[in-house]
Amino acid sequence: LASTEVDLTPIAVGQAVTVVWRGKPVFVRHRTAEEIQVARATPLSELKDPQPDQARVQKDQWLVVLGVCTHLGCVPLGQKPTDAKGNYNGWFCPCHGSHYDTSGRIRQGPAPLNLAVPAYSFMSDTQIRIG
Ligand code: FES
Repeated sequence: LASTEVDLTPIAVGQAVTVVWRGKPVFVRHRTAEEIQVARATPLSELKDPQPDQARVQKDQWLVVLGVCTHLGCVPLGQKPTDAKGNYNGWFCPCHGSHYDTSGRIRQGPAPLNLAVPAYSFMSDTQIRIG
């Protein structure tokens, strides 16, 4: 499928879902106020791949990123409540130990870049189309 639609209604605050788009996992996370605040408060000088959180989201509470580690392409952990989320409460790639923050930005480990943000648009307040 060239595009994938996601209904956001069932995704509660603090939860995340994984959908498949063009054969790749896409992580959709409904961020908590604290997760947003921490992402916003992080100085760009602390980032390996400096990008403000505001440049990575269309609506503060919804983070949409490719679930593909930018090191060698493993799928990071952090989607399930029981998963390790790494040292920055986002995702942890178990292959070689990369830690991503609540904006999907690389913070520690060998990955060079932030988790990529795919092209997507809001069809309504509760529906996005990826691709
Ligand atoms: Fe993720 Fe190497 S593939 S750290």
